Amino acid sequence: MALERTLSIIKPDAVAKNVIGEIYARFEKAGLKVVAAKMKHLSRSEAEGFYAVHRERPFFGALVEFMISGPVMIQVLEGEGAIAKNRELMGATNPKEAAAGTIRADFADSIDANAVHGSDAPETASNEIAYFFATTELCPR
Ligand code: TYD
Repeated sequence: MALERTLSIIKPDAVAKNVIGEIYARFEKAGLKVVAAKMKHLSRSEAEGFYAVHRERPFFGALVEFMISGPVMIQVLEGEGAIAKNRELMGATNPKEAAAGTIRADFADSIDANAVHGSDAPETASNEIAYFFATTELCPR
């Protein structure tokens, strides 16, 4: 399996629940390394730009409102198969469908306030990392 990097966001609901450390522990136990991180309160245009692919979806407005409702913790995770591994740790988009022991099963309240984001493919991972981090902000490989 290839060494990959993926973008992870701990969303406003999970930051408000004070579980950043618990979520980081899950990344670390799974062998994912934090190679960049920043806490940020996203502007409306940052959130709209990040989720631009969903612009035409009915939930887009609510998603943007939620993402700007409080600070988020944004990190780049590195590891073997990091993209799929992070998605596995996150669980299904809808916490009601998320497998037991996943981050969303344990910390998310609903499909729209679902605790975490994780890139879903290599191309989106590299675009999403570049959206939030300059190359100089990433630990060298
Ligand atoms: P999506 O990319 O489908 O899910 P994931 O975050 O698991 O990759 O959707 C992006 C976000 O949009 C999702 O995390 C929460 C929100 N969303 C809704 O609020 N309602 C919905 O019906 C869907 C599909 C997503």
